[in-house]
Amino acid sequence: MTDATPSADGQTLTVRDDRTGKEYVLPIVDGTIRASDLGKIRVSDDEPGIASYDPGFTNTASTRSAVTFIDGEKGILEYRGYPIEQLAEKSSFLEVAYLLIHGDLPSKEQYDSWVHDITFHTFVHENIKSLMQGFRYDAHPMGMLLSAVGGLSTFYPEARNIHDAETRHLQIVRMIAKMPTLGAWSFRHAQGKPYVYPDNDLSYAENFLAMLFKMSETTYEADPRLVKALEVLFILHADHEQNCSTNAVRSVGSSQVDPYSAVSAGIGALYGPLHGGANEAVLKMLRRIGDVSNVPAFIEGVKAGDERLMGFGHRVYKNYDPRATIIKKATDDVFEVTGVNPLLKIAVELEKIALEDEYFVKRKLYPNVDFYSGLIYEALQFPPEMFTVLFAIPRTAGWLAQWLELVNDPEQKIARPKQIYTGERGLVFPSSSERWG
Ligand code: CMC
Repeated sequence: MTDATPSADGQTLTVRDDRTGKEYVLPIVDGTIRASDLGKIRVSDDEPGIASYDPGFTNTASTRSAVTFIDGEKGILEYRGYPIEQLAEKSSFLEVAYLLIHGDLPSKEQYDSWVHDITFHTFVHENIKSLMQGFRYDAHPMGMLLSAVGGLSTFYPEARNIHDAETRHLQIVRMIAKMPTLGAWSFRHAQGKPYVYPDNDLSYAENFLAMLFKMSETTYEADPRLVKALEVLFILHADHEQNCSTNAVRSVGSSQVDPYSAVSAGIGALYGPLHGGANEAVLKMLRRIGDVSNVPAFIEGVKAGDERLMGFGHRVYKNYDPRATIIKKATDDVFEVTGVNPLLKIAVELEKIALEDEYFVKRKLYPNVDFYSGLIYEALQFPPEMFTVLFAIPRTAGWLAQWLELVNDPEQKIARPKQIYTGERGLVFPSSSERWG
């Protein structure tokens, strides 16, 4: 028997090692066993113990977290305990950002001071502007954003002092404040338009829209319905627990690097098509289907395994993605201003057929957040390359909340997974004359 002490609530897992006949009692805490307890299961003291093999971390908890809760079976998403539906309806993005970072809703004074601080950190150093202007005319905006955020670490060297709470807070404020500026400038760059400076009389979302679309007018006035839709989209994308980019932020942050460098790693992860790029694939798919009359044949093709119905299915949600329900409602508000995107009809028909079809029902495939978001972004005149930038701006609040949790978590260590080595060993290096004659 091993010396592992049972958990406080007495739940244990008994494992028998058939190689030695020994039994081990591993404590179960919160539905998990400690991977390090597996390490105690070994044939002899000079051999390594058992490890778990889990590419893609499909069944490995990397942290204890109190930021975001997801129940994929029931379709529940909560930030700090508040259901996403209520936050989308009643809150603002900056209040949600406060909630994520601080763990609690702000008082009126705390909220006002938070909004004030974020608003007055929206400007970036002129040399960051020069850095961005140095990119090629057709640079992908996400590549520009990634570089600019990484570059910010050189402007704020004190950010390396991650053990000081006040310094950490200042960098968090700076980053949430500057993301819309950097995102908007990466958009203007590809269009060959002058970068627009922040207008601190505007709200967070209004200011972002102004920096994106303002031309010669003195003050840019965004349609309030579009501002509201953008706020809702920002709230929905603010966090999603331990996904690929959050894991990247935590993994890089675990080296105790500054938060700008950690967040730029998150932007890199989000840049990939398997993470942030599915809504663009939905648009391409809808365009290819072309007409509602082609939907049944397309669905048959999906069922035959020819291709996937993009914007459907999720690793975690086995029910309607709660964000998709809210986005679907937001499409109505946006289309009221912009006119209906003709692809919407095809999307609605696809959803209707798929939700009734046994293939999708049996596999629990429901619309995910990306099914409708691309339609809204397109209606707002964004080219597909901007979609991931629109995701990265609000997700910065979530990344930073998770980074803060990491930094304050005494259990966390530098991320360093194990490997199963499959290569050669102990070869003798042949000289070049032996190899090449
Ligand atoms: N269309 C058709 N069949 C599907 C789809 C789909 N979109 N998604 C899954 N399936 C089938 C799949 O073929 C498999 O069937 P079978 O058991 O007969 O082989 C079964 O459902 C399980 O699929 P899986 O690939 O094992 O599921 P996964 O959890 O590994 O994949 C997914 C999740 C999101 C990658 C996948 O559902 C997918 O490719 N969806 C389309 C792309 C998409 O919309 N991605 C955005 C995800 S949401 C963004 C975010 O939250 O970051």
